Amino acid sequence: MSIPSTEPRTVIILAAGQGTRMKSTLPKVLHRIAGASLLVHAIQSVLPLSPERIVVVVGHGREQVESEVRARFGDLVTFAVQSQQRGTADAVRAAIPMIPYSSTEVLITYGDCPLVPTSLLKQLLDERAQSVARVSVATAEISDPTGYGRIVRDVRGHVTAIREHKDCTPAEREITLINAGLYAMDRAFLERGLAAVSSDNAQGEFYLTDLVAMAARESERASAGAGCIEVRGRANLLRGINDRVELADAEVSMLEIIHDRWRRAGNTIARGARIECDVVLEGDVTVAQGAVLRGKTVVRTGSVVDVGCILEDAIVDVNVLLKPYSIVVQSEVGARAQIGPFAHVRPASVIGEDAHVGNFVELKKTRMGRGAKANHLAYLGDGVIGERANIGAGTIFCNYDGFQKHTTTIGEGAFVGSNSSLVAPVTIGDDAYVGSGSVVTRDVPSGALAVGRARQEIKEGYVARIRALKKKP
Ligand code: UD1
Ligand code: CA
Repeated sequence: MSIPSTEPRTVIILAAGQGTRMKSTLPKVLHRIAGASLLVHAIQSVLPLSPERIVVVVGHGREQVESEVRARFGDLVTFAVQSQQRGTADAVRAAIPMIPYSSTEVLITYGDCPLVPTSLLKQLLDERAQSVARVSVATAEISDPTGYGRIVRDVRGHVTAIREHKDCTPAEREITLINAGLYAMDRAFLERGLAAVSSDNAQGEFYLTDLVAMAARESERASAGAGCIEVRGRANLLRGINDRVELADAEVSMLEIIHDRWRRAGNTIARGARIECDVVLEGDVTVAQGAVLRGKTVVRTGSVVDVGCILEDAIVDVNVLLKPYSIVVQSEVGARAQIGPFAHVRPASVIGEDAHVGNFVELKKTRMGRGAKANHLAYLGDGVIGERANIGAGTIFCNYDGFQKHTTTIGEGAFVGSNSSLVAPVTIGDDAYVGSGSVVTRDVPSGALAVGRARQEIKEGYVARIRALKKKP
């Protein structure tokens, strides 16, 4: 992958920290909300800015973090390694050699902030470019600012410093305007500033936030305007995730954003449904409560996904009815098909147009032709079912002989009577019939009837005889 047309800017995303408060073996930025990791969301939000390069600073759990990012973005993302986590300025320093010569501005974000709107990042870049400020910083008013860096301003309202919570005076702790951890900076200033940062503070770390005070001092000396400008954002979108309570809250917000986007695009989505970030709804789709749509699922126009359905990497064509509690995984459902309730469509299945798959029917790697029906209680594994074929209740495709899987082929318009076992490999010809309760081990020619069951016997007067025998004298 390559970025088509770019702006002279580089984005640095910090993701080297361990995230101790998550209490997890998984690096913090790989924890997931709404179907993707925190870091993937953070990267997604900078893509529309067309940067020349995106550098992710990795450290803790670096192999895992890199492979997750590569799997999704290929070489669209460059990595820098911070071997010891000595603070956010130290992390940015690790990324400096990766910045292309042509990038004159740098956007810095944190990998644990998944909800940041691209519009806010754009505003950070634009407002800085249009002013003399060397830095712009995203801020938010927050009722409980504990743990955040506070925005310190002078009487004119110019930002003069960011003070980390642990370094604040009691008066500064009262400040409720916080640093969200997103900055646009002039590239030359960034390099100059990083060289001057010290670790003389409460945590003994190199703080990136010290660059704000430097920018303020530089422009003060030059009697220019503000050295750092702030761009206000909404607190609930700018929160960093530090523990699993915040993770859960962020997921609620993320799902609400995703659902509202699809609602505005003309889909009905009940509260309590869950549509993850890569799903596509093509309009006039209805998703009921408790339905979960995951992965690269696509649902086309007019389809209904009823209560409790689970779709994962499913392609659902137009006007399909997915009745309650049906599961479709890595499979396709054709136009106007009806599935469920309680159907289980397992990977590599293709259900034809107008086909019906009823309750307690399980398919695996099975193609069902147009208008074919399996309305109740069946296991259809490794099958090819012709158009208009009718599969009776209790039919089993015996696809596994203990060693290998074999295919069952059902011809067009064929009729498989209830409770039949078709022992694969086996073929039922077009328009053939299989008598109810048959065990079919040999191919059935087109138009033939196969009956493979014990012949019924009638014993006249049996009951009376047996009663007479059992009667005690
Ligand atoms: C940071 C800010 C604080 C701000 C808050 C917003 C600093 C000094 N403080 O504090 O002003 O209010 O974010 O959420 O910047 N990281 C590295 N390497 C390191 C340290 C951190 O890559 O050596 C990464 C972490 O993985 C994380 C991000 O930087 O993605 C922020 O680090 P974190 O330790 O969470 O910073 P805060 O203490 O929350
Ligand atoms: Ca944080």
